Amino acid sequence: METAKKHLIIIGFMGTGKTTAGQQLAAQINLPWVDTDQQIEQKWGFSVAEYFQRYGEASFREQETDVLQQLLSGPPSLITTGGGIVLKPENRAMMKEQGWVIHLYATPEEIIRRLSANRDRPLLQGDIRQKVRQLFRERDGKYDFADCTINTTSCSPDDVVEKILSFWQRRQV
Ligand code: S3P
Repeated sequence: METAKKHLIIIGFMGTGKTTAGQQLAAQINLPWVDTDQQIEQKWGFSVAEYFQRYGEASFREQETDVLQQLLSGPPSLITTGGGIVLKPENRAMMKEQGWVIHLYATPEEIIRRLSANRDRPLLQGDIRQKVRQLFRERDGKYDFADCTINTTSCSPDDVVEKILSFWQRRQV
């Protein structure tokens, strides 16, 4: 059975501006905004960093899939996601089937620049340059299923939002 694509879903590596775009879009689009990391934090009552510390990455990935499933089965929404949501093939399949998927991209150098001052991401502890480059290699191709890719490397957040809105509006006619 074919399911209609009813959600607008934003994926992308850490530091590509998914949350900023979600925040700005929420004010301009007629969809409730939900974020997979925030849902996990609300459910458990502590941060993603603390979740990783207590239960580890594998358990976090299970939570992520549960939350994604719940959000996708709910009303049409703007869904922003954690950068690693694309790791599981079943997550990629569900998102593709049930939503229009926007991939925000930035070069590894730009991501390192953006995230160097913000050190709370559990997967980027230690040598951030080495970690970002390694994760980039491991995730190569995993964001490619998106319906649209936006290179945010030299784009302002306003430009990114404008591109997403234009994509979305073209899907509404
Ligand atoms: C992760 C990205 C994070 C968060 C967790 C793991 C990843 O979200 O889900 O730290 O594996 O890329 P952001 O992409 O919003 O930073």
